Amino acid sequence: MNDMTPTREQREAALEGMGCKRKRVEDVRFTQGKGQYVDDLKLPGMVFGDFVRSPYPHAKITKIDASEALKLPGVIAVLTAEDLKGVNLAWMPTLAGDVQMVLADGKVLYQNQEVAFVVAEDRYIADDAIQLVDVEYEELPVLVDPFKSMDPDAPVLRPDLDGKTEGAHGPRKHHNHIFNWEVGDKDETAKAFAEADVTINEMISYHRTHPSPLETCQCVASMDKVKGELTVWGTFQAPHVIRTVASLLSTIPEHKIHVIAPDIGGGFGNKVGAYPGYICSIVASIVTGVPVKWVEDRMENLSTTSFARDYHMTTEIAAKNDGTVTGLKVHVLADHGGFDACADPSKWPAGFFNIVTGSYDFPAAHLSVDGVYTNKAPGGVAYRCSFRVTEAAYCIERAMDILAQKLEMDPADLRMKNFVKADQFPYQSALGWEYDSGDYHTAMQKAMDTIGYRELRAEQKAKQEAFKRGETREIMGIGVSFFTEIVGAGPSKNCDILGVAMFDSAEIRVHPTGSVISRMGTKSQGQGHETTWAQIIATEIGIPADDIMVEEGNTDTAPYGLGTYGSRSTPVAGAAIALAARKIRNKAQMIAAHMLEVSEYDLEWDVDGFQVKGNPEARKSMKEIAWAAYHAPPPNMEPGLEAVSYYDPPNMTYPFGAYFCVMDIDVDTGVATTRRFYALDDCGTRINPMIIEGQVHGGLTEAFAIAMGQEIRYDETGNVLGASFMDFFIPTAVETPHWETDHTVTPSPHHPIGAKGVGESPNVGGVPAFSNAVNDAFQFLGNTHIQMPHDAWRIWQAAKDLGAHG
Ligand code: CDP
Repeated sequence: MNDMTPTREQREAALEGMGCKRKRVEDVRFTQGKGQYVDDLKLPGMVFGDFVRSPYPHAKITKIDASEALKLPGVIAVLTAEDLKGVNLAWMPTLAGDVQMVLADGKVLYQNQEVAFVVAEDRYIADDAIQLVDVEYEELPVLVDPFKSMDPDAPVLRPDLDGKTEGAHGPRKHHNHIFNWEVGDKDETAKAFAEADVTINEMISYHRTHPSPLETCQCVASMDKVKGELTVWGTFQAPHVIRTVASLLSTIPEHKIHVIAPDIGGGFGNKVGAYPGYICSIVASIVTGVPVKWVEDRMENLSTTSFARDYHMTTEIAAKNDGTVTGLKVHVLADHGGFDACADPSKWPAGFFNIVTGSYDFPAAHLSVDGVYTNKAPGGVAYRCSFRVTEAAYCIERAMDILAQKLEMDPADLRMKNFVKADQFPYQSALGWEYDSGDYHTAMQKAMDTIGYRELRAEQKAKQEAFKRGETREIMGIGVSFFTEIVGAGPSKNCDILGVAMFDSAEIRVHPTGSVISRMGTKSQGQGHETTWAQIIATEIGIPADDIMVEEGNTDTAPYGLGTYGSRSTPVAGAAIALAARKIRNKAQMIAAHMLEVSEYDLEWDVDGFQVKGNPEARKSMKEIAWAAYHAPPPNMEPGLEAVSYYDPPNMTYPFGAYFCVMDIDVDTGVATTRRFYALDDCGTRINPMIIEGQVHGGLTEAFAIAMGQEIRYDETGNVLGASFMDFFIPTAVETPHWETDHTVTPSPHHPIGAKGVGESPNVGGVPAFSNAVNDAFQFLGNTHIQMPHDAWRIWQAAKDLGAHG
């Protein structure tokens, strides 16, 4: 080795593999405004589609007359449900086993529902034409409150389900009932409550909100009638599933449908499902023979394409006097709006809400969920959430605080007492999950020490005394949250979407000169896959990440995968990537053995190549091996160096975290200021610490928004409030608190690189930390539970109700 020969550390660093804070390669184009989004697409002859929408939340449609609109120069067509019936597309199946109107078929069920699709030469003409479509409505009684959905005299929302006593998930109890889902041991749980020293019972609501990505939902559909091929560019988090569903619905063979998801400006669950805009654009392109673009505006996005949460969770805990929890009972009333379009794996009507036992060793638990219809938009998407885990984490973390209050125990100590212990993993939860790995006590202790928890409590006590003496009008809250997530949907034994098993895939091709192209079944919407997937490959096959190109989103080239949402990409596709890379390394070992004229068993892997054991001078780099793979492979070996892996995970992964929020509240104005927010995350092996930090910052900002004001509200007559950024809280840098991040590392034992997902953790853990801080601040005034969102007005109101205004 001469002086110029790089050291092992230098060679490792040159790879920029796993663990490296590699800069995001995609940002080169994004920061220069060179991303290619759907709306950047301009095809020859392309026209535009836009919707006539209902101003009423519940009404019969007695007439649709498009004749005036069709007279407007530039208007090409106006589609109604009657037109869609001709191609059997007036209704579409939802992911949750329900059906949904594509265009209003005789009635509307929520405000802004799609009534007709106007196709015109440009967007402005389409908009003018919308005003000319004459629709007559006959108003019907409106049902807004989910607690009234199953009243005997509640209006019938879905006459199409008349007489249907069986839904997709079992018996229906009422004309507005969708499903009941029960899990756990009812009798054991009842016994725990009968024998409990202490119990709590609180109705904890998680209000309706929306993922509101920067870029709204949109598509361009182009039917080539000569070739019989359909191409759809769209904001799709799961392009392959869209292709399969499009084929099943349209009967166009799957190989003649090309679905392309270009750059996407955020998804957060909003872009998983299929929406009327996609169907209408496709039909309109088939009808007109030209490409049709549909681009949702902000108000349409917030009020129609999906919502999130809207869970009302009556939560009971049984415990001993010393704080040991013995039973958990939860009943959820789930408001699904006009159609059940929840984006959950097929068998899970309430997603993975049965992770609601959280990080605690509950010996008995029982959960029951009732889904109901109301006159609100459909959706129920996993807004930065693994299928209702966010609601579950909020439910248990609020409930643990309420229990601590009743027991007069410190909430952090109560959690420590009940955590699943490190030696209990793999841990079987009372509601049916097997947690793969965790070390909750270490994480919590590290978080408490770092934030100076005991000192903060002492400061809070002193402030409360000062408040009582009338020396200050400011009170202080300390929000504790410890969450366990369940991500990586999923094992095919329990997860599918419309019958398609939820595996994922990777294809890696090493070129003769040692550079690489790799393609996955996932689709980044900003998570940085182009950066991190290359890092996994770099570490596994010793080729620098900069020499590896990552491509996602084109169903013609990428292997079939189930897409990106619910932090599933790293647990599922990340594993497929590592395994495909290992196939390549195995073949490379055989080629190296041939080149070095030794047995492959005499070789060992060393950062970026193979060397002979005990003789490191005799080595072949991956670059040399790649060349040989094409030009001088061993006799009887196929040339080339590429591999594909389809990975069906044996289990989910269970990341966790300890979050603390320190908040100061002015009781006279209701203004809450986050003084400190500390987030410790454990997502197992960390691929890119900088990207993880970015994911945590983004998710915490969303959590802050949701807890402190973001809401899709409806008034009592069904008008949707909060359908614009004037009313729907999107924090800017001005409002957003400073985030402190930290980590521990507890690898997943079943994942090839030990990684768990992280993308949604901060949303899951952040919301309870904020809400617990607000609730904690008012505890000394007798507060038990203040519902979210905690905007200044509601905090002021809570302070008033608790007598803080004197
Ligand atoms: O499915 P999604 O991409 O939204 O979530 P994820 O799998 O949690 O990954 C989000 C981003 O964080 C990706 O770029 C991952 O590669 C990265 N990540 C990481 O660097 N290390 C982990 N252990 C988990 C995720």
